[in-house]
Amino acid sequence: MKAEIKGLGMYVPPRVLTNEDLEKILDTSDEWITTRTGIKERHIAEEWENASDLALPAAKEAIENAGLTPKDIECVIVATSTPDMTFPSTACFLADKLGCSKPMAFDISAACSGFIYALTIANSFIKSGQFKNVLVVGSEVFSKIIDWNDRSTAVIFGDGAGAAVVSASDGESDILAAVMKSDGSHWGSLYCPVGEKLKMRGRETFKLAIKSMETASKKALEKAGLTLDDIKLVIPHQANIRIIKALAERLELPEDKVFSNIHKYGNTSAASIPIAMYEAWKEGKFKKGDYLLLTAFGGGLTWGAIVLKF
Ligand code: UT7
Repeated sequence: MKAEIKGLGMYVPPRVLTNEDLEKILDTSDEWITTRTGIKERHIAEEWENASDLALPAAKEAIENAGLTPKDIECVIVATSTPDMTFPSTACFLADKLGCSKPMAFDISAACSGFIYALTIANSFIKSGQFKNVLVVGSEVFSKIIDWNDRSTAVIFGDGAGAAVVSASDGESDILAAVMKSDGSHWGSLYCPVGEKLKMRGRETFKLAIKSMETASKKALEKAGLTLDDIKLVIPHQANIRIIKALAERLELPEDKVFSNIHKYGNTSAASIPIAMYEAWKEGKFKKGDYLLLTAFGGGLTWGAIVLKF
């Protein structure tokens, strides 16, 4: 049995916060943010909007694009570090809002690597025959855990959600290889204590990000029996345009083979890969049958890479 990504969806809240807006509240500049991160603007949720609210339209679109209805979804996995509540899970809220028929529903916490971790779990559920249709969502409202007085983190993160439906299939499409890793000894590079605000040692995280995504990408390709020449598009976690460019350089890839939309959304953590994947697909950067490489890195530390045939 193969695991096909059958539908994609995304949603960002309408409110846009530009670098110019940030210049008014912080000692920062559009020039600094643009050259150091590649970010021009990000979307920010309203006070009343939670991760499950952003996840809902993204999930609806993914289910519709898969040609399914919420009743077909047997399992809902939400990757988030900014859940609606400690419990119930954001996935339970989402499944209820969607009108699913009592699916297995749970959240996973792997920071910015959350979506690819969740996709790996979905792949295993499909391959083991447990489920036929799994909804995987990355949804974040980092604006709620940002210290808006800390210019080193406030300019980086944004809110949003991306979703994918993974379905059992006997066609060509499949999740071919996954390499998922963690190293808790580096937890202090990027963390958020319960009830407090996010803290990050940027420069340290920066270096670890490039090295770990490079290594995981190479291992996943090897596991899939493919090379970078086979890959149509690399979709990396959108943390910093300089990290994405450095990764492209290390993998000896032309920049146009590595997708980026960080200028519009900033770093949306677990939502960044499904949002990027959705936009790349909509822009026609890949189609059915193309090989993709997804790679992410985040707090934990966690990191990994997935090779799939779309
Ligand atoms: O998504 C999960 C993983 N997260 C990441 O991968 C994030 C990785 N890290 C980064 O993207 C970068 O390290 C940052 C964008 C966070 C920071 O860029 P940097 O080039 O590493 O800057 P830095 O922290 O070394 O700071 C350089 C200077 C400092 O001033 P001094 O000490 O040189 O005078 C900072 O105080 O830039 C200053 N600075 C700022 N200036 C204007 C820091 N933030 C700002 C700001 N505006 N927003």
